[in-house]
Amino acid sequence: MVSIPAQYPSVLIIGSGVFGLATAWELSKNPEFKDTEITLIDRQPFPAADSSSIDTSRIIRPDYASLSYTRLASKAQLLWRTTFAPEHYHETGLAVTASGPEQSYVTDSLRNVQFHGTDRVQTLQSAAEIQRVCGLEANKPTDDTLSPGGGSTGYVNWNSGWADAEGAMCWLRREVEKLNRVRFITGTVKRLNINHSTNTVSGVILSDDSTLTASLTILAAGAWSPSLLDLRGICKATGQALVYLPLSASEQAKVANNPTILNLSTGLFIITPSRKSLKVARHGHGYTNPTTIPHPEAAPGSNQTITISLPATHLTTHTQDPLPLEAQRQCRDLLRSVYPSLSSPSRPWSKTRICWYTDTRNGDFLIDHHPKYKGLFLATGGAGHAFKFLPVIGECVVESILGRMPEDFRGKWEFPRQRVPEEEWAGDGSRGGPEGVVLAEEYERQRKGRL
Ligand SMILES: Cc1cc2nc3c(=O)[nH]c(=O)nc-3n(C[C@H](O)[C@H](O)[C@H](O)COP(=O)(O)OP(=O)(O)OC[C@H]3O[C@@H](n4cnc5c(N)ncnc54)[C@H](O)[C@@H]3O)c2cc1C
Ligand SMILES: *[C@@H]1O[C@H](CO)[C@@H](O)[C@H](O)[C@H]1NC(C)=O
Ligand SMILES: *[C@@H]1O[C@H](CO)[C@@H](O)[C@H](O)[C@H]1NC(C)=O
Ligand SMILES: *[C@@H]1O[C@H](CO)[C@@H](O)[C@H](O)[C@H]1NC(C)=O
Repeated sequence: MVSIPAQYPSVLIIGSGVFGLATAWELSKNPEFKDTEITLIDRQPFPAADSSSIDTSRIIRPDYASLSYTRLASKAQLLWRTTFAPEHYHETGLAVTASGPEQSYVTDSLRNVQFHGTDRVQTLQSAAEIQRVCGLEANKPTDDTLSPGGGSTGYVNWNSGWADAEGAMCWLRREVEKLNRVRFITGTVKRLNINHSTNTVSGVILSDDSTLTASLTILAAGAWSPSLLDLRGICKATGQALVYLPLSASEQAKVANNPTILNLSTGLFIITPSRKSLKVARHGHGYTNPTTIPHPEAAPGSNQTITISLPATHLTTHTQDPLPLEAQRQCRDLLRSVYPSLSSPSRPWSKTRICWYTDTRNGDFLIDHHPKYKGLFLATGGAGHAFKFLPVIGECVVESILGRMPEDFRGKWEFPRQRVPEEEWAGDGSRGGPEGVVLAEEYERQRKGRL
């Protein structure tokens, strides 16, 4: 019997984010791939500043409405606490609150963390309690059941935390380098090299028209993945709001041990600050950036196009538009309700950013062989929550390549049999904030509003 890796003398990974780098790490360690040539290509030198895996911080939580993700996140946390970049992981807790329909996510997530055996969970019954337990500044809630700062119901999980995302990615990159198995290339993939008569992908064509050949190509290009494969109705890039507020040393000290606060009704959260920078962000439906591109699967010379949402980042667009004011205002409002002393409207952010999620219909990742093209595997669809799985996701990907997708995720991670129009996507129930906002239209509204 031929073992599967014999089919893969060479593997090419597109993208050096969470999915791509973790996969390269696992392939380097996995004895079944000991003779495989491994190449990792990214359009940016590492660490790619506009990728979604590089930032000051990412929440590390087992708090999920789906027990499968609770279990996998708990497994990842055991590693974050011990052997996986532990100096970049901080367990300061996460308070999850809501006051609308998102409440059911809070309830389900609480049930899962309790079921899974976390003993450091505290339920929060009122705005006053949320304030006290989370160390928020006292500001008079209008009534005791609802405060903008705390929401009306929720809980804090002291077993959750956050990681310095860039620090942890750099740590992992060094680990991969130490194993000396991966060839790293900086270059932009223009398209997959598809043979349409055999429906086989044999590697990629780069922007300078040179080619890279591999027996297995892994598409892990994050929010850019839909530019290289037709993923309409399956994956789309959504832009999420981030602002950073510089803190003084004493301000930093005052809030350094407070939990991250996430309001699922608005999607807004304030992550425990680090290195004198406080980050406020919105885990929301996000902005889309509709872009017309040549159909990524069309034969060369065809003039077929598709229109999809793609990232626009400070490295890819010529404009330097800051985050839309609507989002800046919302972040400022949350700050005002949580830390009034830091929220003076004239106090400038040090930086704003739009960071791009690779959203999927139900918030499940996309980790599977392509159903039509042989030699193509997908490891993408992070849907705004993949970072915490950095210590374990490579193993999940490689097991799935070998036809052993983790039991818990069968029926979740496969390439969907049907494409579902984006308006009908259900999501995972964890998003708040405005829906269906096109980035360019938001800027336009803003410009008109100012005239
Ligand atoms: C604002 C924000 C907050 C988040 N918060 C959390 C959180 O608190 N907790 C959590 O667990 N997760 C969080 N996430 C999600 C998590 O960060 C992502 O799911 C994860 O980083 C996705 O990794 P990736 O490998 O898919 O994408 P990326 O990190 O974007 O990597 C893709 C790479 O592909 C490269 N690439 C793209 N196109 C090409 C091409 N044509 N040729 C060559 N290379 C290419 C890019 O340069 C990039 O480096 C958040 C994400 C964002 C954006
Ligand atoms: C969460 O958002 C809702 C809706 O705006 C609001 O009623 C609630 O008080 C908010 N809580 C937080 C934490 O901002
Ligand atoms: C596609 O593959 C077939 C079979 O290997 C080969 O004969 C053909 O030349 C290939 N087509 C292209 C365009 O490379
Ligand atoms: C390109 O598009 C035009 C119409 O838009 C069509 O008439 C033409 O045949 C197309 N060419 C190819 C190579 O598909």
